[in-house]
Amino acid sequence: MAEKKTFYITTPIYYPSDNLHIGHAYTTVAADAMARFKRLTGYDVWFLTGSDEHGQKIERSARERGQTPKEYVDKIVAGFQHLWRSLNISNNDFIRTTEERHKKVVQQIFQKLYDQGDIYKASYEGWYCTPCEAFWTESRLEEGNCPDCGRPVELLREESYFFKMSKYADRMLKHIEENPDFIQPVSRRNEMVSFIKSGLEDLCVSRTTFNWGIPVPFDPKHVIYVWVDALTNYISALGYGQENDELYRKYWPADIHLVGKDIVRFHTIIWPIILMAAGLPLPKQVVGHGWVLLESGKMSKSRGNVVDPLILIDKYGVDAIRYFLLREMPLGADAYYSEEALVHRINQDLANDFGNLFNRTCAMAYKYFKGHLSEPGRPEGPDGELIDLARGTPGAVEELMERREISNALATILRLVGRANKYLEETAPWALAKDPEKQGRLNTVLYNVAEVLRFATVLISPFMPGLPERAWPLLGLEDKPELHTWESLSWGKLPGGTVLKRGEPLFPRIDPATLGEE
Ligand code: MSP
Repeated sequence: MAEKKTFYITTPIYYPSDNLHIGHAYTTVAADAMARFKRLTGYDVWFLTGSDEHGQKIERSARERGQTPKEYVDKIVAGFQHLWRSLNISNNDFIRTTEERHKKVVQQIFQKLYDQGDIYKASYEGWYCTPCEAFWTESRLEEGNCPDCGRPVELLREESYFFKMSKYADRMLKHIEENPDFIQPVSRRNEMVSFIKSGLEDLCVSRTTFNWGIPVPFDPKHVIYVWVDALTNYISALGYGQENDELYRKYWPADIHLVGKDIVRFHTIIWPIILMAAGLPLPKQVVGHGWVLLESGKMSKSRGNVVDPLILIDKYGVDAIRYFLLREMPLGADAYYSEEALVHRINQDLANDFGNLFNRTCAMAYKYFKGHLSEPGRPEGPDGELIDLARGTPGAVEELMERREISNALATILRLVGRANKYLEETAPWALAKDPEKQGRLNTVLYNVAEVLRFATVLISPFMPGLPERAWPLLGLEDKPELHTWESLSWGKLPGGTVLKRGEPLFPRIDPATLGEE
């Protein structure tokens, strides 16, 4: 058998400076949907997430709590892992930057770049933003404040190591220009092109102002700049440069680094230049998604408006939360979160459309045939249109996923579901049931809708991975894994003799009046 094609996808590694909120959950859920979709369509997938545990901010948070940094991060990172399990995230590995396997690789790369003269020592004076852990030149400041977060900066002077980014600027620009898919969406790409054209300065890649980091191997007073440390996770987790580098050889370069728009620059300029300098292949694509916003402004602890995904999962179920996040956020654009919007989506798409199609179909099959469906008769009336749409949907969804348009992919699946609901109105099985001569037609109608439900269940499984195990028994297919696959999506595979079952509604309607009640 031919070897499966590989697909390597990563999320950013999150800062354990606090618990994660719905915005972080969005990033990881989106990456998970992409990973699961690729697995479904036959790829050998490696999906990585993790935690970015060094830096001054973490050191300080730990001190404020009277803990060592390690004690502090261990606890928060356990919370990350719990959240990902609760969200049904299918990562193959979880990398922590405090692990030996990571530190070794960061030091190796730093040493290599130093040995070849791409890292040099110099004295540096600059405006430092402590929360962002970034130095800025005077010209980059906005009204004297940090251009990223808007907070005040302080003038610091230190001996530091610098990485010769400027040397690679032209090659980097050329790479972006010659590979139109490298940065998605296009708006992000244009931003990066102008950023490089405005002139790349060498990057300060070491700090002496704090200790909680990976020491520079040949000058341990210095710790390695957090972003060099953090970005390297994408290859350290694969065992790059180690005796056993099988994963690295198999999966690198990454197919997708999925990141929020705020960190696109680190992933499309700094990271590729580090790789270029180290003589390693560049990731194939960096996708920068928009932000989950609140009407009340940015989520923050001090504002007390942080949306905790665990509470929502408890209240509405993990599949519904995943569906909402993925459907509501078009790639690249920001989207507002509100519980009203969440409940509206659940009621409209999941209860009224998807759940209802299941309920109606199973209830009618039960009522008219004790659930038994036979082979369908010849297509007539609206059958052809429904069948054509079902046949075209897998390909359409795959194409949208290739374009990273998750929201549109879901809309396409729901369009098929909507068409089937309309088909039931058009064919009116309840009327056919009254006529003893129309029993064959009645069976065909219910068969067609059951087959649509099979298609929809397979197609939606990467996005709502908990759904299939509840849906297959309703379709009487729980013991037929061969009919759960991507390859099985050719029309008419549902066997005659299938027995549909009645069950609890898949997605009960939520009364919007209960909103806000805990
Ligand atoms: N540690 C760095 C990433 C290093 S990757 C080598 C970092 N961590 S973070 O925890 O601050 O953010 C991680 C990701 O969460 C980023 O992609 C960021 O865009 C995303 N989000 C944080 N808040 C968000 C929203 N409100 N909405 C959507 N994504 C958001 O940056």
